[in-house]
Amino acid sequence: PEKRRRRIRVWCDGCYDMVHYGHSNQLRQAKAMGDYLIVGVHTDSEISKHKGPPVFTQEERYKMVRAIKWVDEVVQGAPYVTTLETLDKYNCDFCVHGDDITLTVDGKDTYEEVKKSGRYRECKRTQGVSTTDLVGRMLLMTKAHHSNIDTSDYQEHTDNFGKLKVKPFSWVCLTKDCWLFDFLLLNRFVDLVCHGKTEIYPDKDGSDPYAEPRRKGILRTVDSGNSLTTDAIVQRIIKNRLLF
Ligand code: CTP
Repeated sequence: PEKRRRRIRVWCDGCYDMVHYGHSNQLRQAKAMGDYLIVGVHTDSEISKHKGPPVFTQEERYKMVRAIKWVDEVVQGAPYVTTLETLDKYNCDFCVHGDDITLTVDGKDTYEEVKKSGRYRECKRTQGVSTTDLVGRMLLMTKAHHSNIDTSDYQEHTDNFGKLKVKPFSWVCLTKDCWLFDFLLLNRFVDLVCHGKTEIYPDKDGSDPYAEPRRKGILRTVDSGNSLTTDAIVQRIIKNRLLF
């Protein structure tokens, strides 16, 4: 009988702050290069030292990375610089990173050692999305996100959203949910409409955005077990900014 091929173990590491579809796309590509994907996520203090404090705490970032379907295992508090020692410790064949260079606080390539030993693979960085860009967009939307969003910026992003045929995690968090509840859609395909425990804000004209599902008796409240809101994230970003 044919000898069974050894499973290829792949290593990725990073900050994974404000997890977005660029991150999940990177992890998807990495997983496709092997069989088992291990992701090392840096601690808050390690990130602060090299590039400034993250918006999400390490515990939150571990959880978010663990929730990505291509991830088999998360290593908490992985070192900022990727060494052969780390790859060996977790029995990984090689590591995968997007095609951008990451530097330490002293300007050294964080993948220098693994690159030299041939245990480094590259995947394509996803254009048009980054944590820095998200932070900027969130600061701009402070006022806008509880009123109807009909700006060209919104249009542009919903267009991309359609083309990509993916549901970017952070986009889901940023949008107002109501566009989903188009009357036709609701009547044809939806059995249940769920909203978290947060307050339901009235539409611009004062009407209840959930009036229709409420009338049909298909509105349910779900408990996310988490009190985080977009406003709270924006507040954190502002606080971080004030530190620097
Ligand atoms: N990554 C990617 N595409 C993006 C953003 C990140 O492929 N649009 C990849 C990076 O190349 C890296 C991994 O995601 O392999 C984790 O990146 P991270 O350490 O979180 O930081 P950044 O590269 O700085 O990503 P961002 O600017 O979004 O914070």
